[in-house]
Amino acid sequence: MALTTNGEIIKTPPRQPVGEACRIKSLPPLTGVIRIPGDKAITHRAVIFSSIAQGTARITNALLGYDCMASIECMRRLGAKIDINGNTLTVTGAKGLKNNQRLNVGDSGTTLRLLTGLIAGAGVSAVLEGGDGLKNRPMEQVVETLNGMGARITSADGFAPITVKASQMRGAEVYLPVAGAQLKGALMLAALNVRSGITIYEDTPTRDHSEIMFEEMSADITRGPGRVTVRPSVLKSLNMKIPGDLSGAAYFMAAATIIPGSHVVLRNVGVNPARTGIIDIINSCGGRIDVLNESMHRGEPVADIMVESAPKIKPFNISGALAPRIIDELPVLAVMACFADGESNISGASELRHKESDRITNTVAALKMMGARIEETGDGMRIWGGGVLNGGARIDPRGDHRVAMTLAVAGAASLEGVEILNPGIVGKSYPDFFKIFSGAKEDAGRDGD
Ligand code: S3P
Repeated sequence: MALTTNGEIIKTPPRQPVGEACRIKSLPPLTGVIRIPGDKAITHRAVIFSSIAQGTARITNALLGYDCMASIECMRRLGAKIDINGNTLTVTGAKGLKNNQRLNVGDSGTTLRLLTGLIAGAGVSAVLEGGDGLKNRPMEQVVETLNGMGARITSADGFAPITVKASQMRGAEVYLPVAGAQLKGALMLAALNVRSGITIYEDTPTRDHSEIMFEEMSADITRGPGRVTVRPSVLKSLNMKIPGDLSGAAYFMAAATIIPGSHVVLRNVGVNPARTGIIDIINSCGGRIDVLNESMHRGEPVADIMVESAPKIKPFNISGALAPRIIDELPVLAVMACFADGESNISGASELRHKESDRITNTVAALKMMGARIEETGDGMRIWGGGVLNGGARIDPRGDHRVAMTLAVAGAASLEGVEILNPGIVGKSYPDFFKIFSGAKEDAGRDGD
Protein backbone atom coordinates (compact mmCIF):
# COMPACT_ATOMS: atom_id res chain seq x y z
CA MET A 1 0.00 0.00 0.00
CA ALA A 2 3.00 2.29 0.42
CA LEU A 3 3.50 4.51 -2.56
CA THR A 4 6.64 3.99 -4.53
CA THR A 5 8.53 7.22 -4.53
CA ASN A 6 11.68 6.47 -6.44
CA GLY A 7 11.60 8.76 -9.30
CA GLU A 8 9.96 8.31 -12.62
CA ILE A 9 8.06 5.14 -11.81
CA ILE A 10 4.80 6.91 -11.22
CA LYS A 11 3.89 8.63 -14.42
CA THR A 12 0.20 9.22 -13.89
CA PRO A 13 -1.77 9.59 -10.68
CA PRO A 14 -2.17 6.00 -9.50
CA ARG A 15 -5.61 4.55 -8.99
CA GLN A 16 -6.73 3.79 -5.49
CA PRO A 17 -6.14 0.15 -4.62
CA VAL A 18 -9.31 -1.71 -3.75
CA GLY A 19 -10.17 -4.96 -2.14
CA GLU A 20 -7.71 -5.22 0.74
CA ALA A 21 -8.60 -4.82 4.38
CA CYS A 22 -6.48 -3.78 7.32
CA ARG A 23 -7.07 -5.12 10.81
CA ILE A 24 -6.31 -2.81 13.71
CA LYS A 25 -6.19 -4.48 17.11
CA SER A 26 -6.45 -2.92 20.51
CA LEU A 27 -3.14 -1.26 21.02
CA PRO A 28 -0.93 -1.26 24.02
CA PRO A 29 0.43 2.20 24.76
CA LEU A 30 2.01 4.15 21.89
CA THR A 31 5.58 5.04 22.62
CA GLY A 32 8.60 6.17 20.68
CA VAL A 33 9.65 8.77 18.18
CA ILE A 34 7.75 9.07 14.93
CA ARG A 35 8.71 11.01 11.88
CA ILE A 36 5.67 12.45 10.15
CA PRO A 37 5.71 12.73 6.33
CA GLY A 38 5.68 16.10 4.55
CA ASP A 39 2.64 18.34 4.70
CA LYS A 40 0.16 17.79 1.87
CA ALA A 41 -1.03 21.39 1.53
CA ILE A 42 2.52 22.76 1.59
CA THR A 43 3.83 20.14 -0.87
CA HIS A 44 1.07 21.03 -3.39
CA ARG A 45 2.05 24.67 -3.14
CA ALA A 46 5.79 24.01 -3.29
CA VAL A 47 5.29 21.96 -6.46
CA ILE A 48 2.92 24.38 -8.18
CA PHE A 49 4.64 27.60 -7.18
CA SER A 50 8.14 26.28 -8.01
CA SER A 51 6.82 25.10 -11.37
CA ILE A 52 6.04 28.67 -12.40
CA ALA A 53 9.01 30.27 -10.67
CA GLN A 54 12.20 31.58 -12.18
CA GLY A 55 15.04 29.10 -11.63
CA THR A 56 15.39 25.65 -10.08
CA ALA A 57 14.34 24.62 -6.58
CA ARG A 58 15.25 21.61 -4.48
CA ILE A 59 12.31 20.54 -2.32
CA THR A 60 13.08 17.96 0.35
CA ASN A 61 10.70 15.91 2.51
CA ALA A 62 7.98 16.31 -0.12
CA LEU A 63 4.85 14.23 0.36
CA LEU A 64 4.46 11.98 -2.67
CA GLY A 65 0.95 10.72 -2.01
CA TYR A 66 -1.58 10.38 -4.82
CA ASP A 67 -2.77 13.97 -4.63
CA CYS A 68 0.61 15.67 -4.71
CA MET A 69 1.68 13.31 -7.51
CA ALA A 70 -1.29 14.63 -9.46
CA SER A 71 -0.01 18.18 -8.98
CA ILE A 72 3.45 17.07 -10.15
CA GLU A 73 2.07 15.41 -13.28
CA CYS A 74 -0.10 18.40 -14.16
CA MET A 75 2.76 20.86 -13.74
CA ARG A 76 5.00 18.68 -15.93
CA ARG A 77 2.31 18.85 -18.61
CA LEU A 78 2.15 22.58 -18.25
CA GLY A 79 5.89 22.81 -18.95
CA ALA A 80 7.78 22.48 -15.65
CA LYS A 81 10.68 20.04 -15.33
CA ILE A 82 10.31 17.97 -12.17
CA ASP A 83 12.73 15.21 -11.13
CA ILE A 84 11.96 12.95 -8.20
CA ASN A 85 14.58 11.24 -6.10
CA GLY A 86 13.18 9.63 -2.94
CA ASN A 87 11.25 12.42 -1.27
CA THR A 88 13.31 15.13 -2.93
CA LEU A 89 12.04 17.08 -5.92
CA THR A 90 14.10 19.20 -8.25
CA VAL A 91 11.76 21.60 -9.97
CA THR A 92 12.68 23.94 -12.82
CA GLY A 93 10.00 26.49 -13.56
CA ALA A 94 8.21 26.58 -16.91
CA LYS A 95 8.79 29.68 -18.99
CA GLY A 96 5.12 30.38 -19.66
CA LEU A 97 2.44 27.70 -19.32
CA LYS A 98 1.81 25.35 -22.26
CA ASN A 99 -1.52 26.06 -23.91
CA ASN A 100 -4.40 23.63 -24.58
CA GLN A 101 -3.38 20.86 -22.19
CA ARG A 102 -5.69 18.11 -20.89
CA LEU A 103 -4.80 17.75 -17.24
CA ASN A 104 -5.64 14.78 -15.06
CA VAL A 105 -5.93 16.00 -11.48
CA GLY A 106 -6.68 12.50 -10.15
CA ASP A 107 -8.84 12.76 -7.03
CA SER A 108 -7.17 15.92 -5.80
CA GLY A 109 -9.51 18.82 -5.06
CA THR A 110 -6.55 21.02 -4.10
CA THR A 111 -4.86 20.43 -7.47
CA LEU A 112 -8.07 21.18 -9.34
CA ARG A 113 -8.86 24.39 -7.49
CA LEU A 114 -5.34 25.81 -7.43
CA LEU A 115 -4.70 25.02 -11.08
CA THR A 116 -8.02 26.47 -12.21
CA GLY A 117 -6.92 29.80 -10.74
CA LEU A 118 -3.40 29.54 -12.11
CA ILE A 119 -4.52 28.70 -15.65
CA ALA A 120 -7.33 31.27 -15.77
CA GLY A 121 -5.01 34.05 -14.61
CA ALA A 122 -2.26 33.02 -17.03
CA GLY A 123 -4.65 33.46 -19.95
CA VAL A 124 -4.21 29.99 -21.42
CA SER A 125 -6.75 27.26 -22.18
CA ALA A 126 -6.93 23.84 -20.56
CA VAL A 127 -9.29 21.05 -19.59
CA LEU A 128 -8.96 19.75 -16.04
CA GLU A 129 -10.50 16.37 -15.38
CA GLY A 130 -10.33 13.95 -12.50
CA GLY A 131 -11.34 10.60 -11.10
CA ASP A 132 -14.44 9.34 -9.31
CA GLY A 133 -13.19 10.74 -6.03
CA LEU A 134 -13.81 14.23 -7.36
CA LYS A 135 -17.32 13.74 -8.61
CA ASN A 136 -18.96 15.16 -5.48
CA ARG A 137 -16.49 17.96 -4.78
CA PRO A 138 -18.19 21.29 -5.57
CA MET A 139 -16.22 23.61 -7.83
CA GLU A 140 -18.81 26.31 -8.48
CA GLN A 141 -17.29 28.74 -6.00
CA VAL A 142 -13.90 28.76 -7.66
CA VAL A 143 -15.48 28.87 -11.14
CA GLU A 144 -17.95 31.66 -10.36
CA THR A 145 -15.47 33.78 -8.42
CA LEU A 146 -12.91 33.66 -11.25
CA ASN A 147 -15.59 34.22 -13.92
CA GLY A 148 -16.67 37.31 -11.99
CA MET A 149 -13.21 38.70 -12.80
CA GLY A 150 -13.37 37.99 -16.51
CA ALA A 151 -12.26 34.35 -16.63
CA ARG A 152 -14.08 32.02 -19.07
CA ILE A 153 -14.51 28.79 -17.18
CA THR A 154 -17.21 26.17 -17.50
CA SER A 155 -17.87 23.10 -15.36
CA ALA A 156 -20.26 20.18 -15.41
CA ASP A 157 -22.98 21.80 -13.29
CA GLY A 158 -20.48 22.95 -10.71
CA PHE A 159 -18.31 19.83 -10.78
CA ALA A 160 -15.28 18.54 -12.72
CA PRO A 161 -14.39 18.43 -15.55
CA ILE A 162 -13.52 22.09 -15.79
CA THR A 163 -12.76 23.84 -19.06
CA VAL A 164 -10.77 27.06 -18.96
CA LYS A 165 -10.74 29.18 -22.13
CA ALA A 166 -8.02 31.76 -22.58
CA SER A 167 -9.13 35.20 -21.43
CA GLN A 168 -7.79 38.32 -19.80
CA MET A 169 -8.86 38.58 -16.17
CA ARG A 170 -9.48 41.90 -14.40
CA GLY A 171 -8.34 42.86 -10.94
CA ALA A 172 -10.93 42.82 -8.17
CA GLU A 173 -11.62 42.89 -4.47
CA VAL A 174 -13.21 39.62 -3.44
CA TYR A 175 -14.87 38.44 -0.25
CA LEU A 176 -14.45 34.69 0.06
CA PRO A 177 -17.95 33.18 -0.10
CA VAL A 178 -16.85 30.33 2.19
CA ALA A 179 -13.78 29.87 4.36
CA GLY A 180 -11.52 27.94 2.00
CA ALA A 181 -7.75 27.99 1.65
CA GLN A 182 -7.91 26.28 -1.73
CA LEU A 183 -10.20 28.97 -3.14
CA LYS A 184 -7.99 31.68 -1.65
CA GLY A 185 -4.91 30.01 -3.18
CA ALA A 186 -6.61 29.80 -6.59
CA LEU A 187 -7.30 33.55 -6.54
CA MET A 188 -3.77 34.33 -5.40
CA LEU A 189 -2.32 32.29 -8.25
CA ALA A 190 -4.59 34.05 -10.75
CA ALA A 191 -3.52 37.42 -9.33
CA LEU A 192 0.11 36.83 -10.31
CA ASN A 193 -0.92 37.68 -13.88
CA VAL A 194 -3.82 40.11 -13.36
CA ARG A 195 -2.78 43.68 -14.13
CA SER A 196 -4.22 45.51 -11.14
CA GLY A 197 -3.91 42.58 -8.77
CA ILE A 198 -6.53 40.89 -6.58
CA THR A 199 -7.42 41.63 -2.97
CA ILE A 200 -9.05 38.82 -1.04
CA TYR A 201 -10.94 39.28 2.22
CA GLU A 202 -11.84 36.39 4.49
CA ASP A 203 -14.11 36.59 7.54
CA THR A 204 -12.77 33.41 9.03
CA PRO A 205 -9.02 32.92 8.70
CA THR A 206 -7.94 29.86 6.75
CA ARG A 207 -4.47 28.34 6.50
CA ASP A 208 -1.97 30.84 5.07
CA HIS A 209 0.61 28.56 3.44
CA SER A 210 0.10 30.28 0.08
CA GLU A 211 0.69 33.71 1.59
CA ILE A 212 3.84 32.57 3.39
CA MET A 213 5.30 30.87 0.33
CA PHE A 214 4.49 33.83 -1.93
CA GLU A 215 6.31 36.12 0.50
CA GLU A 216 9.30 33.80 0.63
CA MET A 217 9.36 33.55 -3.18
CA SER A 218 9.40 37.35 -3.55
CA ALA A 219 5.86 37.86 -4.90
CA ASP A 220 4.35 41.34 -4.71
CA ILE A 221 2.05 40.60 -1.77
CA THR A 222 0.74 42.62 1.15
CA ARG A 223 -1.49 41.31 3.88
CA GLY A 224 -3.16 42.14 7.13
CA PRO A 225 -5.73 40.41 9.32
CA GLY A 226 -8.40 38.90 7.04
CA ARG A 227 -6.94 40.48 3.91
CA VAL A 228 -4.33 39.67 1.29
CA THR A 229 -3.44 41.54 -1.93
CA VAL A 230 -1.36 39.95 -4.68
CA ARG A 231 -0.13 42.00 -7.64
CA PRO A 232 1.50 40.77 -10.83
CA SER A 233 4.84 39.23 -10.04
CA VAL A 234 7.30 36.56 -11.01
CA LEU A 235 8.06 34.08 -8.24
CA LYS A 236 11.70 33.26 -7.51
CA SER A 237 12.66 29.62 -6.93
CA LEU A 238 13.52 28.67 -3.40
CA ASN A 239 15.04 25.52 -1.90
CA MET A 240 12.88 24.30 0.94
CA LYS A 241 12.23 21.44 3.33
CA ILE A 242 8.54 20.61 3.71
CA PRO A 243 7.49 20.43 7.39
CA GLY A 244 5.81 17.25 8.64
CA ASP A 245 2.04 17.24 8.22
CA LEU A 246 0.21 18.26 11.37
CA SER A 247 -2.95 16.64 9.99
CA GLY A 248 -1.09 13.31 9.76
CA ALA A 249 0.40 13.82 13.21
CA ALA A 250 -3.13 14.35 14.53
CA TYR A 251 -3.90 10.61 14.47
CA PHE A 252 -0.94 9.87 16.72
CA MET A 253 -1.81 12.81 18.99
CA ALA A 254 -5.34 11.57 19.44
CA ALA A 255 -4.38 7.90 19.88
CA ALA A 256 -1.62 8.71 22.39
CA THR A 257 -3.98 10.98 24.32
CA ILE A 258 -6.66 8.31 24.59
CA ILE A 259 -4.58 5.14 25.15
CA PRO A 260 -3.27 5.04 28.72
CA GLY A 261 0.48 4.88 29.22
CA SER A 262 1.31 6.39 25.82
CA HIS A 263 4.20 8.76 25.28
CA VAL A 264 5.27 9.73 21.76
CA VAL A 265 7.39 12.39 20.15
CA LEU A 266 6.39 13.47 16.66
CA ARG A 267 9.36 14.97 14.86
CA ASN A 268 9.58 18.07 12.67
CA VAL A 269 5.91 18.83 12.42
CA GLY A 270 4.56 22.07 10.93
CA VAL A 271 2.92 24.12 13.68
CA ASN A 272 1.50 27.01 11.69
CA PRO A 273 -1.05 28.63 14.04
CA ALA A 274 -3.70 28.35 11.31
CA ARG A 275 -3.45 24.57 11.74
CA THR A 276 -2.81 23.97 15.43
CA GLY A 277 -6.41 24.01 16.68
CA ILE A 278 -6.08 20.31 17.47
CA ILE A 279 -3.29 20.94 19.97
CA ASP A 280 -5.33 23.65 21.69
CA ILE A 281 -8.40 21.43 21.89
CA ILE A 282 -6.59 18.37 23.20
CA ASN A 283 -4.79 20.42 25.83
CA SER A 284 -7.97 22.20 26.83
CA CYS A 285 -9.63 18.90 27.59
CA GLY A 286 -6.97 17.54 29.83
CA GLY A 287 -4.49 16.31 27.24
CA ARG A 288 -0.75 16.63 27.59
CA ILE A 289 0.83 17.97 24.45
CA ASP A 290 4.04 19.98 24.48
CA VAL A 291 5.47 21.79 21.48
CA LEU A 292 9.26 21.62 21.69
CA ASN A 293 12.31 22.78 19.74
CA GLU A 294 10.34 25.25 17.65
CA SER A 295 12.18 26.84 14.72
CA MET A 296 11.22 28.66 11.52
CA HIS A 297 11.85 27.35 8.06
CA ARG A 298 10.90 29.46 5.04
CA GLY A 299 8.31 31.33 7.08
CA GLU A 300 6.66 28.19 8.51
CA PRO A 301 7.07 27.24 12.18
CA VAL A 302 8.27 23.66 12.72
CA ALA A 303 8.56 21.79 16.03
CA ASP A 304 8.66 18.43 17.77
CA ILE A 305 5.42 17.51 19.45
CA MET A 306 5.45 15.44 22.63
CA VAL A 307 2.21 13.71 23.57
CA GLU A 308 1.39 11.82 26.75
CA SER A 309 -1.85 10.07 27.53
CA ALA A 310 -4.46 12.13 29.35
CA PRO A 311 -5.48 10.90 32.80
CA LYS A 312 -9.01 12.10 32.06
CA ILE A 313 -10.57 13.60 28.92
CA LYS A 314 -13.07 16.42 29.31
CA PRO A 315 -15.80 17.03 26.72
CA PHE A 316 -15.33 19.95 24.31
CA ASN A 317 -17.16 22.32 21.97
CA ILE A 318 -15.85 23.41 18.59
CA SER A 319 -17.63 26.12 16.63
CA GLY A 320 -17.16 29.29 14.57
CA ALA A 321 -13.67 30.46 13.67
CA LEU A 322 -12.04 27.43 15.29
CA ALA A 323 -13.58 25.01 12.78
CA PRO A 324 -11.37 26.00 9.76
CA ARG A 325 -8.27 25.74 12.00
CA ILE A 326 -9.12 22.17 12.71
CA ILE A 327 -11.20 21.12 9.70
CA ASP A 328 -9.23 18.02 8.70
CA GLU A 329 -8.89 16.86 12.32
CA LEU A 330 -12.57 16.91 13.25
CA PRO A 331 -13.22 13.22 12.49
CA VAL A 332 -10.42 12.07 14.79
CA LEU A 333 -11.52 14.52 17.47
CA ALA A 334 -14.92 12.82 17.34
CA VAL A 335 -13.12 9.63 18.39
CA MET A 336 -11.52 11.48 21.28
CA ALA A 337 -14.94 12.76 22.29
CA CYS A 338 -16.09 9.15 22.67
CA PHE A 339 -13.59 8.87 25.54
CA ALA A 340 -14.59 12.12 27.25
CA ASP A 341 -16.74 12.17 30.34
CA GLY A 342 -19.72 14.07 28.91
CA GLU A 343 -21.26 15.57 25.79
CA SER A 344 -19.09 17.20 23.10
CA ASN A 345 -20.37 19.32 20.22
CA ILE A 346 -18.84 20.18 16.87
CA SER A 347 -20.61 22.87 14.81
CA GLY A 348 -19.82 25.40 12.09
CA ALA A 349 -18.22 22.63 10.07
CA SER A 350 -20.56 22.21 7.10
CA GLU A 351 -17.52 22.31 4.79
CA LEU A 352 -16.83 18.80 6.10
CA ARG A 353 -19.68 17.61 3.92
CA HIS A 354 -17.67 18.52 0.79
CA LYS A 355 -14.43 16.70 1.45
CA GLU A 356 -13.42 13.29 0.02
CA SER A 357 -16.72 12.08 1.46
CA ASP A 358 -19.45 13.76 3.45
CA ARG A 359 -17.27 13.49 6.52
CA ILE A 360 -20.09 14.27 8.94
CA THR A 361 -22.33 11.43 7.75
CA ASN A 362 -19.42 9.07 7.11
CA THR A 363 -17.70 9.61 10.49
CA VAL A 364 -20.93 9.34 12.43
CA ALA A 365 -22.00 6.15 10.63
CA ALA A 366 -18.57 4.53 11.08
CA LEU A 367 -18.24 5.38 14.78
CA LYS A 368 -21.80 4.20 15.42
CA MET A 369 -20.83 0.83 13.98
CA MET A 370 -18.11 0.71 16.63
CA GLY A 371 -20.58 1.40 19.41
CA ALA A 372 -20.21 5.18 19.77
CA ARG A 373 -23.10 7.34 20.92
CA ILE A 374 -22.90 10.00 18.24
CA GLU A 375 -25.34 11.82 15.96
CA GLU A 376 -25.08 14.21 13.06
CA THR A 377 -26.30 17.76 13.12
CA GLY A 378 -26.63 20.02 10.06
CA ASP A 379 -23.14 21.44 10.40
CA GLY A 380 -21.37 19.06 12.74
CA MET A 381 -21.90 16.29 15.24
CA ARG A 382 -22.80 15.64 18.85
CA ILE A 383 -20.99 12.94 20.79
CA TRP A 384 -21.82 11.47 24.19
CA GLY A 385 -18.61 10.15 25.70
CA GLY A 386 -18.43 7.27 28.05
CA GLY A 387 -14.88 6.06 27.93
CA VAL A 388 -15.39 2.85 25.99
CA LEU A 389 -15.72 1.92 22.32
CA ASN A 390 -16.59 -1.68 21.58
CA GLY A 391 -15.21 -1.91 18.06
CA GLY A 392 -15.37 -5.33 16.44
CA ALA A 393 -16.77 -3.97 13.17
CA ARG A 394 -15.67 -4.22 9.54
CA ILE A 395 -16.01 -0.75 8.04
CA ASP A 396 -15.62 0.85 4.65
CA PRO A 397 -14.28 4.40 4.96
CA ARG A 398 -15.92 5.14 1.61
CA GLY A 399 -12.89 6.41 -0.19
CA ASP A 400 -11.93 8.91 2.47
CA HIS A 401 -8.32 8.78 3.71
CA ARG A 402 -9.05 10.80 6.84
CA VAL A 403 -11.95 8.57 7.83
CA ALA A 404 -9.72 5.49 7.32
CA MET A 405 -7.06 6.92 9.66
CA THR A 406 -9.73 8.02 12.12
CA LEU A 407 -11.00 4.43 12.21
CA ALA A 408 -7.49 3.20 12.94
CA VAL A 409 -7.40 5.42 16.05
CA ALA A 410 -10.89 4.31 17.08
CA GLY A 411 -9.99 0.66 16.55
CA ALA A 412 -6.75 0.96 18.50
CA ALA A 413 -8.56 2.54 21.42
CA SER A 414 -11.49 0.09 21.28
CA LEU A 415 -12.02 -3.22 23.04
CA GLU A 416 -12.20 -5.38 19.94
CA GLY A 417 -10.33 -3.46 17.25
CA VAL A 418 -11.61 -2.78 13.75
CA GLU A 419 -11.24 -4.02 10.22
CA ILE A 420 -10.85 -1.22 7.69
CA LEU A 421 -11.72 -1.94 4.06
CA ASN A 422 -9.73 -0.41 1.20
CA PRO A 423 -7.04 0.97 3.48
CA GLY A 424 -4.87 1.96 0.49
CA ILE A 425 -6.75 5.22 0.25
CA VAL A 426 -4.50 6.61 2.97
CA GLY A 427 -2.00 6.96 0.13
CA LYS A 428 -3.64 10.28 -0.57
CA SER A 429 -1.95 11.93 2.36
CA TYR A 430 0.03 9.34 4.37
CA PRO A 431 1.18 6.35 2.30
CA ASP A 432 2.91 4.52 5.19
CA PHE A 433 0.30 5.29 7.79
CA PHE A 434 -0.79 1.76 8.65
CA LYS A 435 2.77 0.47 8.75
CA ILE A 436 3.83 3.19 11.18
CA PHE A 437 0.63 3.12 13.22
CA SER A 438 0.72 -0.65 13.64
CA GLY A 439 4.42 -0.45 14.45
CA ALA A 440 3.32 1.52 17.45
CA LYS A 441 1.78 -1.59 18.84
CA GLU A 442 4.81 -3.78 18.85
CA ASP A 443 7.45 -1.47 19.68
CA ALA A 444 7.99 1.73 20.64
CA GLY A 445 10.97 2.87 19.00
CA ARG A 446 10.82 3.77 15.45
CA ASP A 447 12.76 6.85 14.91
CA GLY A 448 14.92 7.42 12.42
CA ASP A 449 16.63 10.67 12.47
C1 S3P B 1 -6.43 22.50 1.96
C2 S3P B 1 -7.34 23.26 2.60
C3 S3P B 1 -8.45 22.71 3.37
C4 S3P B 1 -8.23 21.23 3.71
C5 S3P B 1 -7.70 20.44 2.58
C6 S3P B 1 -6.42 21.03 2.03
C7 S3P B 1 -5.38 23.19 1.17
O1 S3P B 1 -9.63 22.83 2.61
O2 S3P B 1 -9.44 20.66 4.16
O3 S3P B 1 -7.41 19.13 3.03
O4 S3P B 1 -4.48 22.54 0.63
O5 S3P B 1 -5.46 24.40 1.06
P1 S3P B 1 -10.35 24.23 2.37
O6 S3P B 1 -9.96 24.71 1.02
O7 S3P B 1 -11.79 23.90 2.49
O8 S3P B 1 -9.85 25.19 3.44
